[in-house]
Amino acid sequence: MTNYEATSLRDRLCGSITSSDIGNRLTVCGWVAKRREHGEHLAFVDLRDRSGIVQVVVDGGVDVRSEYVLRVTGTVTARPEGTVNDKLSTGEIEITDCVVEVLSAAEPPPFQLNDRVDIDEQIRLRYRYLDIRREQMQRNLRVRAKVNTALRAAMERQGFCEVETPMLWAPTPEGAREFVVPSRLHPGDFYVLPQSPQIAKQLLMVGGFDRYYQIARCMRDEDLRADRQFEFTQLDLEASFVTQLDIMEFVSQAVLDAAEAATGERPTTIDTMTWAEALDRYGVDKPDLRFGMTLHDLSDVFEASEVKAFAAPTVKAIRVPNGSEYSRSRLDQLTERAKDLGAKGLAWFRVTDEGLDSPLDRFLSDVERAAVRSVDGAQSGDLILVVADEYVQACKVLGALRVDIGSPPVSQGPHRYVWVTEFPMYEGLDDEGNPVPAHHPFTMPHADDLELMDTDPLAVRSQAYDLVLNGWELGSGSVRIHRADIQARVFASLGISDEEAESRFGFLMGAFRYGAPPHAGFAFGIDRLVAIFAGEENIREVIAFPKTQSGSDLMTGAPKAITERQIRDLRIRVSPKV
Ligand code: AMO
Repeated sequence: MTNYEATSLRDRLCGSITSSDIGNRLTVCGWVAKRREHGEHLAFVDLRDRSGIVQVVVDGGVDVRSEYVLRVTGTVTARPEGTVNDKLSTGEIEITDCVVEVLSAAEPPPFQLNDRVDIDEQIRLRYRYLDIRREQMQRNLRVRAKVNTALRAAMERQGFCEVETPMLWAPTPEGAREFVVPSRLHPGDFYVLPQSPQIAKQLLMVGGFDRYYQIARCMRDEDLRADRQFEFTQLDLEASFVTQLDIMEFVSQAVLDAAEAATGERPTTIDTMTWAEALDRYGVDKPDLRFGMTLHDLSDVFEASEVKAFAAPTVKAIRVPNGSEYSRSRLDQLTERAKDLGAKGLAWFRVTDEGLDSPLDRFLSDVERAAVRSVDGAQSGDLILVVADEYVQACKVLGALRVDIGSPPVSQGPHRYVWVTEFPMYEGLDDEGNPVPAHHPFTMPHADDLELMDTDPLAVRSQAYDLVLNGWELGSGSVRIHRADIQARVFASLGISDEEAESRFGFLMGAFRYGAPPHAGFAFGIDRLVAIFAGEENIREVIAFPKTQSGSDLMTGAPKAITERQIRDLRIRVSPKV
């Protein structure tokens, strides 16, 4: 018996009772999961608590219904032959000779709390307190707790100090829209809920904390998706006198510990590739290494081609195993998808024993045909998809198609972690020709590329890195700029004036004037990590009280109107709803 089972009201958890307890008289508490009558005077009640289910046999009948809360004292007895249930950990025993006390009656629940039943998600979220009684949600939230515990332990072991940073804060430069909070004492002024503790943790480095971490709640008012909520949780960390390799090592240790705690297995490796390699081979910055279908370059073969469709700087291809069976309409859909992604078109070739089957086949030279026929060791029955375009565009289109076609469900292993390093400093140019930063503006450029900042900004690499798991971006981080001269150059390259820099980040820049250590950090999304460990496609499934896709909390009704009095106190004006 584990010591946390017994309380003043009960002796044991329902799911922990086994045949070694036979003969003992004990008390359990829980909810009625199911009740069956056997004749007039015998009732079988499945009693459920967080640990599982135990069968209680009540003589003389009992007036209980689903989800009543009971306290039952009885004797653990072997089930009669033929009634053993292999699917239950308690399937060999039952509790007989019972005294039943009803602790709470219950109305019929709005849905069956049974994992095998598909329940409308709106109803689940409206009655989330019932939904989380279900085994799957119990398991998911417990995996989450284990992950948090393992992460904390890993950070403590590596000498990190947990510091809490404010929730009422000033704007941070993460780039998402912020939630704002009106100030009662300063009418007309607003706090901002932090998108992340980014600036606070850099200030902690100036403050001499050296190794900081926090399991931090972050808020971003952005469109919700399967891997995005308004509120989410990061393992956030920052350290001084380090390089990116140190940070990658700290984070790897924490993630591997969390994986071991959640899944029972410690992954053996975390791969590393540069952003350029990821784009070239996978067409994305978050490659899913669970499956092949990598991008192959045919640019040389098609350099002087007669085929108009392939007259582009880059020609790339992927092999879809057994894709020959795709119908014409599926191929048309893929073509449409490629066009939506910005491609001019998509060429497809069915691989046959004789060669290729495609409307484009007759335009190919023998050399071209042979090259397409052998992409990625193609076999008869495979399909080759080809995109010709500018380099980055060709890679991205095929990368997206690769994921659309080949991506296994989240629940399918193995877990393949990869560090992606050397992200570009800028992701493009805005309408005014200023480079758009790919990360926040404190990201240190790659030491070898400082000279390119004025001449060829789009070629500048940064010291930013992401951790990717099975095609999901788990987290990102960077070495930060701690030198005023480099920071000024970056601001200038972004078109941020001295005044703007001063008004937005003045307190950070001010702090840096008092001795800023070189520092770097990282943050990853705990919701995403747990969702993958739990095999869930949507992070909602690993959050106790999440929002819907449209940002509502169906249980509390938030967001809601506030009272006239509150509005008056805050001295804000609310426009009528449209
Ligand atoms: P970034 O903005 O990349 O970096 O966020 C880090 C990680 O947080 C998770 N995440 C989210 N999870 C759920 N819902 C969301 N809306 C959401 N937004 C982000 C992702 C993401 O990879 N301060 C920097 C880190 C640093 O440089 O140290 C930051 O927040 O898993």
